[in-house]
Amino acid sequence: MNAPARLPADRPAVAGTLRSALAALLDGLPPRQAAQAVERLIATYRGATPTEAPILRDRADVAAYAAYRMPATFEAVRSALEAFADAVPGWTPGGHVDVGGGTGAAAWAVSATWDGTRPVTVLDWAEPALALGRELAAAHPALDGARWQRSRIGPALALDSTDLVTVSYVLNELTAADRAALVDAAAGAAQAVVIVEPGTPDGYARLVEARDRLVSAGFRVAAPCPHSAACPIVPGTDWCHFSARVSRSSLHRQVKGGSLAYEDEKFGYVAATRREVAPAPARVVRKPQIRKGQVLLDLCEKDPSLSRTTVTKRHGDLYRAARDADWGDAWPPAAG
Ligand SMILES: C[S@@+](CC[C@H](N)C(=O)[O-])C[C@H]1O[C@@H](n2cnc3c(N)ncnc32)[C@H](O)[C@@H]1O
Repeated sequence: MNAPARLPADRPAVAGTLRSALAALLDGLPPRQAAQAVERLIATYRGATPTEAPILRDRADVAAYAAYRMPATFEAVRSALEAFADAVPGWTPGGHVDVGGGTGAAAWAVSATWDGTRPVTVLDWAEPALALGRELAAAHPALDGARWQRSRIGPALALDSTDLVTVSYVLNELTAADRAALVDAAAGAAQAVVIVEPGTPDGYARLVEARDRLVSAGFRVAAPCPHSAACPIVPGTDWCHFSARVSRSSLHRQVKGGSLAYEDEKFGYVAATRREVAPAPARVVRKPQIRKGQVLLDLCEKDPSLSRTTVTKRHGDLYRAARDADWGDAWPPAAG
């Protein structure tokens, strides 16, 4: 029996609403002050994490974080959720808990992936982040009624049972023991767990660790991997990551200089569930290389193995599909 198709959400509309809500946030804040807050946060994040107390201390920190980082974390999570949704085509989360949710990027991303509304709870230990998240969410009807609750990730973390738990750009800020406690709590509470991390070698290492825990707890990996067996990347030689395009705001241009209209957010993720999954037959794990009459695709395959395949003009429709293929896409693309 075919599963009913998922009702996709109006992604551009949700992204546009978020952009306007973030722009309104900076209204009235002198641009230099916002840029200074961002620079301070970047310096803090370069320092030692985990920390004993929240890094996001007050509204200025949080507004700077949201305006500067939320468009990127939103796009990264949305992209991970899209790949996950493709692997569980008939499924829509009936409830969502976002742990370490900060200003709510993942809550927005869920609403940009699956149409409709659902009970949403955003947990974080930084009250100013939750307050600002609530304020931003007032612009988005799908997040009406979301609960913004203070909660500390640690050995005592208990999560209410729900369909989907997201953990976005958080493992990075935790001790090994707290990362393990969080993944175990998520696995115990949810049918599906989606974890997103910066697309760095360290982020990859934390994702592999979390993926192993989820698989040991009985989860199947839905994306990005085409299988739930061990990752074929030899540790230390490479790291699995992807890229999401993010429009640059005037604040970005001010902090980073230059006039590019966009930047590419590198991220890694794992999406796993207790349900049956239909993972991609293979996934494009690097930017495709387009040459004259041929496309070179680096693939992670079901076997599990990594391979490079060359698709040439002689492959007809497949060649046209390869020219359209993006880093992170399933390969070959689903028919229809
Ligand atoms: C980099 S931000 C990511 C926020 C959001 N998930 C996103 O993707 O934009 C990390 C978040 O984790 C929260 N956090 C870090 N350690 C925590 C802890 N031990 N307990 C609860 N929240 C924590 C921080 O307050 C912050 O909001």
